Amino acid sequence: MSWWREGVLYQVYVRSFADANGDGHGDLEGVRSKLDYLEWLGVDGVWLTPIHPSPNHDWGYDVANFYGVHADYGTLDDLDALVADAKRRGIAIVLDLVPNHTSSEHEWFRDPAKRDWYVWTDEPNNWRSTFGGSAWTFDPDVGRYYLHNFLPEQPDLNWWNEEVRAEFDRILRFWFDRGIAGFRIDVAHGIVKDRELRNNPRLSRGDVRTERTYNMNRPEVHDLFRRWRRLGDAYEPPRLWIGETWVSDVAELARYYGANDELHLAMNFPFTLGPFRAPALRGIVEAAERAYTADAWPVWCGSNHDIVRFPTRWSRGDEAKIRCALLVLLTLRGTPILYYGDELGLEQVPIPKDEQLDRAHSRDGARTPMPWGPRSDGEWWIRHGDLTRNVEQMRDDPRSTLSFTRELLALRSAAPALQSGSYATVAAGPGVWAWRRGDSALVAVNLSDRRRIVRGVEGTIRLDTRQERNGEAVSGRLELEPWAGAIVA
Ligand code: GLC
Repeated sequence: MSWWREGVLYQVYVRSFADANGDGHGDLEGVRSKLDYLEWLGVDGVWLTPIHPSPNHDWGYDVANFYGVHADYGTLDDLDALVADAKRRGIAIVLDLVPNHTSSEHEWFRDPAKRDWYVWTDEPNNWRSTFGGSAWTFDPDVGRYYLHNFLPEQPDLNWWNEEVRAEFDRILRFWFDRGIAGFRIDVAHGIVKDRELRNNPRLSRGDVRTERTYNMNRPEVHDLFRRWRRLGDAYEPPRLWIGETWVSDVAELARYYGANDELHLAMNFPFTLGPFRAPALRGIVEAAERAYTADAWPVWCGSNHDIVRFPTRWSRGDEAKIRCALLVLLTLRGTPILYYGDELGLEQVPIPKDEQLDRAHSRDGARTPMPWGPRSDGEWWIRHGDLTRNVEQMRDDPRSTLSFTRELLALRSAAPALQSGSYATVAAGPGVWAWRRGDSALVAVNLSDRRRIVRGVEGTIRLDTRQERNGEAVSGRLELEPWAGAIVA
């Protein structure tokens, strides 16, 4: 048992969540003012996207001081107040750790005594930045090239340097001592680079594109996770490690759990970016079930701040499909992470070209303000989308997506089988995905345009995606309308 295994996590994009002082972007006081809501929804932990001082070339993922709070978001005192208030409600606060790189405005990067904290070369290899172009930029002051797997304003740290490791131990303890419950590790798979900076192999002969063999997913990164796990385990309760692990192979992903001595949760992007079809998603879940050791605990998300929100990407705005996705995310074996707005079925917002702020490729549409009410609550740093799906109006409507999500969370926390029961696929017709959780619960979802029947199901419907069959007895056959699902227990 641990709070995060049975619990549900909620990702807050701080800049867009709640603005307490009306200056056009979210802040920590805003998050605190919404704890009532988060408690009512039933979440157990909140992951805050980076809150540190940053010139915002990559909206906080370019950290200029790992020990501070960005003035836009408040102060350390505000954070302490948030942590304390959340704790009283049984909600843990998880921060975002960005150890792969710093901001080019971080004092370390300008300090000649800390040159070796970054990765330098005289002859750039063929590594490409994730955001496009060469991963190397010439620094005229130093007379050498530095590595940046992301923007040139995000120089990569040199994790072969023990001083860097020791400094991050200090950073981690600084936050853990303040009651931070854990970290989501940014670019977890990419932190340690090939020591010899070897060229990446080309995808194929004559292709300029390359594999990411030597700048990502190196075996030595696992030493670092073991070190951090030991450090976090010395706290009570042990601190949580969630990895942003972009690897395409589920067996590879399993390695990030180590022998229960590395990450607690390694994000499964093959699932998140998979097509919303029964055979595809079921196949990924089954592969994870096979590849993971008994202690490794899966984690499931549909949306985040880097990708198109799932109500658009998976469900094309169709309410029935949005609910099917929520049902899947919240009832698989593992910890779900809801991205703010998922509980409303919030869609990706089209952002006109001249309003785009993201320098990578536009991820702005997944980062729009949380719709608290039917009208825009002031000028935000980024536009609102359609406000039809909003908390104020959906909260009191028992048939809204929000109420459905809340019921799902409540059912989860009342049913040990849904929290910790094993996963086993149940044979079902084409387009249907059905599974047992432990001995007492069955979930079935019909991801097809035809009515389907799942056989061999006994029990009572505890929740269905249309919220019209609760309490219905099932003996032998569970009928499902197109794009509908149910939990039977
Ligand atoms: C991660 C973050 C993303 C950021 C990148 C560089 O992928 O989720 O938002 O741009 O790392 O820090």
